[in-house]
Amino acid sequence: VDRLTGLRGVSGASRSEEAWRPVLFDLERDEDQAALDALLASGGVRFVHDTLLDQLAELVAAREPRPRWPKEALFARVKAHLGGRDPLTYGTWVFLPWSARLVHVLPREELREVRTDRNRYKITREEQKRLERCRIGVIGLSVGNMAAITFALEGIGASFKIADFDRLSLSNLNRLRSGVQDLGVEKTVLAAREMFEIDPYLEVLPYSQGVNPDNIDDFLIGGGRLDLLVEECDDLYVKVSVRERARLHRIPVIMDTSDRGLLDVERFDREPARPVFHGLVGDLKADGLRGLETKDKVPFFLAIVDGQRMSTRMAASLPEIDHSIGTWPQLASGVALGGAITADVARRILLGEHTESGRYYVDPALIVADGQGMLREPAPPPAPLELSPEAIAPRRLPPAPARDGRVSADAVRFIVALATLAPSAHNAQPWKFRFARGRLECRHDSARDLPNLDFDHCATWVAFGAAFENIVLAAGHLGLAAVPQVFPTPDDPSLVCSVELVPAASARTDPLFSFVTERVTNRKRDARVALDEGDARALASACEGSGGRLELVKSPAELDEIGALMGACDRIVLLNRAMHHDAMHGYRWTRAEVERHRDGLDVASMEFTPAERAGLRLLEQWRTLECLGAIGGGRALEDLSRKAVNAAAAVGLITVPGTGRESYFHGGRVVQRLWLTAASRGLALQPITGLPYLFARLERGQGVGLAPAEQGELTRLRERYARLFEVSQQAAEVLLFRLGRAGPPTARSLRRSLDDVLTLSE
Ligand SMILES: Cc1cc2nc3c(=O)[nH]c(=O)nc-3n(C[C@H](O)[C@H](O)[C@H](O)COP(=O)(O)O)c2cc1C
Repeated sequence: VDRLTGLRGVSGASRSEEAWRPVLFDLERDEDQAALDALLASGGVRFVHDTLLDQLAELVAAREPRPRWPKEALFARVKAHLGGRDPLTYGTWVFLPWSARLVHVLPREELREVRTDRNRYKITREEQKRLERCRIGVIGLSVGNMAAITFALEGIGASFKIADFDRLSLSNLNRLRSGVQDLGVEKTVLAAREMFEIDPYLEVLPYSQGVNPDNIDDFLIGGGRLDLLVEECDDLYVKVSVRERARLHRIPVIMDTSDRGLLDVERFDREPARPVFHGLVGDLKADGLRGLETKDKVPFFLAIVDGQRMSTRMAASLPEIDHSIGTWPQLASGVALGGAITADVARRILLGEHTESGRYYVDPALIVADGQGMLREPAPPPAPLELSPEAIAPRRLPPAPARDGRVSADAVRFIVALATLAPSAHNAQPWKFRFARGRLECRHDSARDLPNLDFDHCATWVAFGAAFENIVLAAGHLGLAAVPQVFPTPDDPSLVCSVELVPAASARTDPLFSFVTERVTNRKRDARVALDEGDARALASACEGSGGRLELVKSPAELDEIGALMGACDRIVLLNRAMHHDAMHGYRWTRAEVERHRDGLDVASMEFTPAERAGLRLLEQWRTLECLGAIGGGRALEDLSRKAVNAAAAVGLITVPGTGRESYFHGGRVVQRLWLTAASRGLALQPITGLPYLFARLERGQGVGLAPAEQGELTRLRERYARLFEVSQQAAEVLLFRLGRAGPPTARSLRRSLDDVLTLSE
């Protein structure tokens, strides 16, 4: 072993009780191979551990996570990764002299990648790399041992200096993670071994004489300045002097005092004039402590740990020192907690998330205490999805008036009730109706806008167009004609449409009329059934007959592509704060919410699986999406639309000439006629309209509200979309939807009551 450590030019001790440095062999190098052969021949190796192939399998799976990796596929990838190299010589063989074990591990970068893989995304890869570059010093290896081990486990720092002059004694074993076999061994050695067993590639430099005036600067800045110092020693002189030097070298110091989870953060890196210990010991200098007797140091200790705030047990223990106990008490729980808090805070300091100096108590006895618990009473389980009876009943209409061509109050109520059955994006129902002197005004209620999603109110005007088409159908059924003026008064922009109701030459019920109450958004995802040609023709002619145009995409490859584009659009929307707000705030999660609001999206109508519903609840919180965006995630946000299109027979795009608000209003009429035609043929239809409305924002709105990266991605999506649909700058893309055969929807969206939306004055 001596010869082997010499191989690397290191000076690890040869006696196995004191050996702390692993010996690394790279078997691609002849001299390492020879040295390993010699070691094996010497009988120094008692155990050999070779799980390299399993480690490689984990590496492959970490780089490409799948719900389940078939074993053969995984090992085929492992083989590809090895690229013909002999697994035996791949990576590193590590000899741990203190346990006579020889262990085969991945090369450094790969070992670290797999070892910290489960940190993602509490720690991102990029953050992990930054943490790895940090140099950490730990003085005092009681709490400090726990901190150092936790740092090594979590991957905070890859270069450590650890100092303690003490050896392990039996009475340390109430709090130090070691065993009786290690009694008498240096604490630095024990910590170093454990750290190397976690990551044999670490740099760990033990200072087994502790730190003193002669080596303190070497400890803090030798070979590169520490990024952080964890100070956990008992010696008051050392405590003060390392702070003085750390302040000089601008190194932040953290200290946990394993009583009440007391943690101190001193940001000497940011506050080079800050007094040590927050000023609690005045301008005490380390030099002033030299030669002081223990009893004279007591006031300083008490000032530092704040005697008034220490735990009662600790306070009562102090006078007992040297009488009934030898030193102050420390518990494993306190030391373990200290290690955890120290590592957590260190990580946030090193990543720039925590910037202040300060004192904190992470006191479990206060946090987990009688009277403090959440859920002290058993909570009811989450309510199962309860449907509103109205959402499953046939549409209720006011009493049907006489079909005598008279514009009675009943006739108006009937007509407006049918108008409100029109679809609107997010079921926003953006309308108010007022009837007076033979005229029905359809007004825009801007309080119901979705400004971040609905570019230029285009979707709003579509809803109005659809509502107006219902007015025409209802009026016709009653023997009336509805004569519209669309956006008649430039100085009254809320008046979308003024409809004159006049007796018609003859009562005529359009065959589509009876489907106004049937039409529904059906988001069921039953298996794909190819679109019938007759259905396709009927839909196209419904569009063309009302001045619109329909394009259908039907081939599986094209459907896959449009599903991918729609999914990407969902991701962009949800990762954009303003659009996320609009997309999420309209969901109604319970029957009570559905019935109270009578607008928005009843989640029961979304046909989500329970897992999807639970997932969406998480996505409701912007902070989740913000973090998802920051780590470059979000692919899962694409799944819903992909799955929806996967179940569809076709995806259709309705366009009308022009791009002004009148075009969208006209488009709404076309939409409604097409949708009613689909209903008449038993076809399920679901708009998925994000794409065309975002494209309009991008092209006609110069990308307002979209970040440059979002604009860039949308531009690329637009190019792919234009390969599927004929698009032009002179036409409005009013509705993109999927179509297919499916069972009846689980729930229909409610409508606000007529009294809320209609004012009738004679
Ligand atoms: C312009 C417009 C855009 C829409 N966009 C979507 C959409 O992207 N996804 C969706 O599931 N439903 C969409 N819908 C359907 C509405 O959510 C639905 O019409 C509303 O909730 C009322 O339900 P109903 O159609 O069953 O009456 C849209 C409707 C319109 C009019």
